[in-house]
Amino acid sequence: MEFHHIPVMLNEVIENLNIKPNGIYVDCTVGGGGHSFEIAKRLKNGHLFCFDRDEEAIEKATKTLAKFSDRVTIIKANFKEAPHILKERGVEKIDGFLVDLGVSSHQIDEGERGFSFVHDGVLDMRMDRQENTLTAKDVVNTFSYDELVKIFYDYGEEEFAKVIAKNIVKVREKSEISTTFQLRDIIESSLPKKVVFSRGGASKKVFQALRIYVNGELDGLDAFLKEMIDLLNEKGRGCVLTFHSLEDRIVKNVFKLESTDCICPPKTPICICGHKATVKLVSRKPIVATAEEQKQNSRSTSAKLRVVEGLIARSMS
Ligand SMILES: C[S@@+](CC[C@H](N)C(=O)[O-])C[C@H]1O[C@@H](n2cnc3c(N)ncnc32)[C@H](O)[C@@H]1O
Repeated sequence: MEFHHIPVMLNEVIENLNIKPNGIYVDCTVGGGGHSFEIAKRLKNGHLFCFDRDEEAIEKATKTLAKFSDRVTIIKANFKEAPHILKERGVEKIDGFLVDLGVSSHQIDEGERGFSFVHDGVLDMRMDRQENTLTAKDVVNTFSYDELVKIFYDYGEEEFAKVIAKNIVKVREKSEISTTFQLRDIIESSLPKKVVFSRGGASKKVFQALRIYVNGELDGLDAFLKEMIDLLNEKGRGCVLTFHSLEDRIVKNVFKLESTDCICPPKTPICICGHKATVKLVSRKPIVATAEEQKQNSRSTSAKLRVVEGLIARSMS
């Protein structure tokens, strides 16, 4: 299947990255290379490092960015390894980074990847099918009722987590649940009819929860963002695109903390924490897609872009 992904808020991302032709940039989630193409185009003596943990994304990005091979390095790795890999390659400081979180349209649309309740396929959901051995099918068929309830609540904010988990356990006693459509049917039969009709994708929350769990999407996201911020040169920009409230909350909190000088409790008479802001918020509120983009690309409707700017030159420890 042809790799298809429309980069979200492309103009806003490029504008906010404030690209210097001789700067060093990092695209932590290159996907099909849509954002990276526009970054690479603007570089002269600069360099762009691209990361993704999905083999198919790496293949596609390699093709998309082929004409920029003099200024682009593509690396298959979890972005949490990016600070370490960059350091190994002698990169101490960067002028900007982009993290476009979540899944690509390609991952969703490719039924065989098992991410979507719209396409039938084996329940897989792994972004990295080489390194990650745990699939959504393993979770659904082997995790306890309590573990399933916790995953559905914590990562899907699914208010019907208990009844859905109960029905999963009941069905799997008879036969394995192995496809996306089998799971979708169990979820839909667990929900009140009016919820099924009103939600627009009744299984969305559970599928999101499983995907986040299987890929450990929120694990260490805060520490990773802090490490990327520490790499930023003065006036270097960090852009993060999120697609649901759980990841946006993490980004918001890290950016708030890193842009605050003193973090002592409110009534402390003098500062004892010594905390110093390392970035400033470029805009207090997240940037959202224009009405026009939201009309053309439904994926952009839930997108939020947060941007920070490096304050002082810091050395990497
Ligand atoms: C929304 S897509 C990025 C699309 C890209 N900006 C473009 O223009 O085509 C998100 C990508 O991030 C990758 N990804 C998600 N979490 C990752 C992680 N922890 N490490 C590396 N890649 C990750 C996914 O495999 C997916 O290809």
